[in-house]
Amino acid sequence: MDFINDPRFKGIEKFDRKVWLSSPTMHGDEQRWVDEAIQTNWVSTVGANINEVEKEMAQYVGVKYAVALSTGTAALHLATKLAGEKMYGQARPNAGTLAGHRVFCSDVTFDASINPVAYEDGESIFIDTEYDTWNMDSVALEKAFEIYPDVKLVVLAHLYGTPGKVEEIKKICDEHNALIIEDAAESLGAKYKLNGQWVETGSLGSYSCISFNGNKIITGSSGGMFLTDSKEDADKIRKWSTQSREAAPWYQHEEIGYNYRMSNIIAGIVRGQFPYLDEHMEQKKEIYFRYKEGLNDLPVRMNPYDSEKSEPNFWLSCMIIDSDAMAHHVRGEQDELWTSCPGKSSPGEILAAITAFGAEGRPIWKPMHLQPIYRTHAFITTAGNGRGKSNAHSIGARSDVGADIFRRGLCLPSDNKMTVEQQERVIEIIHRCFR
Ligand SMILES: Cc1ncc(COP(=O)(O)O)c(C=O)c1O
Repeated sequence: MDFINDPRFKGIEKFDRKVWLSSPTMHGDEQRWVDEAIQTNWVSTVGANINEVEKEMAQYVGVKYAVALSTGTAALHLATKLAGEKMYGQARPNAGTLAGHRVFCSDVTFDASINPVAYEDGESIFIDTEYDTWNMDSVALEKAFEIYPDVKLVVLAHLYGTPGKVEEIKKICDEHNALIIEDAAESLGAKYKLNGQWVETGSLGSYSCISFNGNKIITGSSGGMFLTDSKEDADKIRKWSTQSREAAPWYQHEEIGYNYRMSNIIAGIVRGQFPYLDEHMEQKKEIYFRYKEGLNDLPVRMNPYDSEKSEPNFWLSCMIIDSDAMAHHVRGEQDELWTSCPGKSSPGEILAAITAFGAEGRPIWKPMHLQPIYRTHAFITTAGNGRGKSNAHSIGARSDVGADIFRRGLCLPSDNKMTVEQQERVIEIIHRCFR
């Protein structure tokens, strides 16, 4: 499809510089802390930058301890291992702590949220999503506990920086004595009203994790953090992340170790970024509301949130097309086909159009229960078992909210360096797609 010469897009210019989905935004302070680390020779996985970002992050999120790690994935892995060990005991060196156990998991999330369940030899069971916040459906979670009453762990992500229905989910988990791993990788800075009290995401789990990946609201180029109120748990994660060395003059090991600690150079970048977290959130919020306003005459809606109980960090702005305004769009495993239709459009067409003009969008994260690697895993919806629901003999409605949001939704360019003019051009391109 030649969008540039398509008469529907007449008069729209290509961007001369790429407009990103969400790219790093450096401010200069980062250089100071990186330079200081080099000048003082603290170029290692110990140093002042690490100590400082741990202290600042724990304070900001409102937890007692933060452990700086190499990635959000490393934080999630160690949190998952720790939860497994708490519930089922220390595993043999060649086995995961979740061997033989099931874990309930957010379904519409990035796979790094839930792969650690597999690293620890557990089996993830995917819980469907609700339309109000695009996060784990608490009704489906309740159904899952009816079907699998023995489950003791829930992995809960806040998609695109929007908190889910945490109060309901915590209540259900408390009733079943289940621990929560909170994946706040995308939601640093987002707030939630828990039992009438505003708190930060990252303080809502039994163990919580954040990410400083290059596309996140603040970045260290990479990096992650484990957050907890328990000194014992923080010490354990610090030990595991530095090869599980025991207190002996030689290398002595009673537990399996990992090389997961954050570098003092990366920590320097995070340290320089941290003062700009609020500014980044403010910029992202403006982007979200500019889209909301600019698209309000189209048959689309923005990714929703509960304004009474949450204040997202607005990391990614997304939209979803009304069902009756969807043009044909089918996806295979690696390619897709879509057609244009007057008055309608599809994520395929809109993403192709904005790409052609030099901006970056992305499909909604494909639900985990639809991923080839996890197709044999259970998927629970508000109606119970979500697998095997298509029936050649009786046609009925299937509920699969995650698949529906994936089908009709898309992530819009949300870079906080995008100018108003650039964003208006993206909005105009989306309008033309519906012509
Ligand atoms: C929801 C979610 N969880 C986990 C991760 C993994 O974090 P990292 O890339 O720092 O390993 C990411 C992003 O990268 C994410 O978006």
